[in-house]
Amino acid sequence: MSIDSRKVVVVGCGFVGSSSAFALMQSKLFSEMVLIDADHDRAEGEAMDISHGMAFASPMKIYAGTYDDITDAAVIVITAGANQKPDETRLDLIRKNSAIMKSIIGEIKKRPFEGILLIVSNPVDILTYIALKESGYPANRVIGSGTVLDTGRFRYELGEHLGVDSRSIHAFIIGEHGDSELAAWSEARVGGMPINDFCELRGHYDHEASMEKIFNSVKNSAYEIIARKHATYYGIAMAVCRICAAIVRNEQSILPVSSLMTGEYGLENVVLSIPAVVDENGIETVVPIELNEKELSELQQSATVLKKVIAEFYP
Ligand code: 2OP
Repeated sequence: MSIDSRKVVVVGCGFVGSSSAFALMQSKLFSEMVLIDADHDRAEGEAMDISHGMAFASPMKIYAGTYDDITDAAVIVITAGANQKPDETRLDLIRKNSAIMKSIIGEIKKRPFEGILLIVSNPVDILTYIALKESGYPANRVIGSGTVLDTGRFRYELGEHLGVDSRSIHAFIIGEHGDSELAAWSEARVGGMPINDFCELRGHYDHEASMEKIFNSVKNSAYEIIARKHATYYGIAMAVCRICAAIVRNEQSILPVSSLMTGEYGLENVVLSIPAVVDENGIETVVPIELNEKELSELQQSATVLKKVIAEFYP
């Protein structure tokens, strides 16, 4: 079965899946979108609702389907699983969501599929590792949304602080999509300028305090949103669209998706986010940006946190 680069499948029609599907419809990246959910009625309802926006966007085929519809898709976006409750960490979700991920990958594996698996459910790094192991697909085809959202939040916060378009900021959150993530401050640039120089251009000299405040706000974003509205979904939906665009348009964009480490920074057999070139084959190559000593040690610490959880599943 050949791949139809204009077809996407979204597995899981909860808040994250349906928001992603809504954003994907508006993105005009695909001409066909299949929604799959354990509750087929739910998938049908979402497909109907989203289809009714089509007259204001672009024609496409949107329907509730089954795993038999995946075979020619370019991308399968997996969002299924329980989401964080207030006071829960992403890693707390692992028991419920690992079983769900294994059963979804089991269904996918029964069919021929040559496209890209984009894992979004949390804890995304662990679930991407599980998807990789259970599918047996080459590592370039199994991607986690990773810290693409956190990096978006980071650029937004920096943009607000510095009074500059967040798209003019090159700065990454890397490591776990979760509590052990870190900001790669030493490589952050605004319009090509080292970030602290740009801060001074804008009259900010208290670098340490600002960096701490901005990073904490990024790291705690999901907790703050969940405390108020019980879930996060619009930001991640936009991140899903961004990653799908890089894949289906073969953009070779550099995005901090989560992928298997194979020796970068001394890390192996763990999935986490560092910038990577993303194209139609998924991960073309990772981009091991230079880190200072503190950042390197924090990244290794983040990997240790994830490896401990992985060891429970694959001792
Ligand atoms: C987020 O960061 C909960 O992982 C989700 O918004």
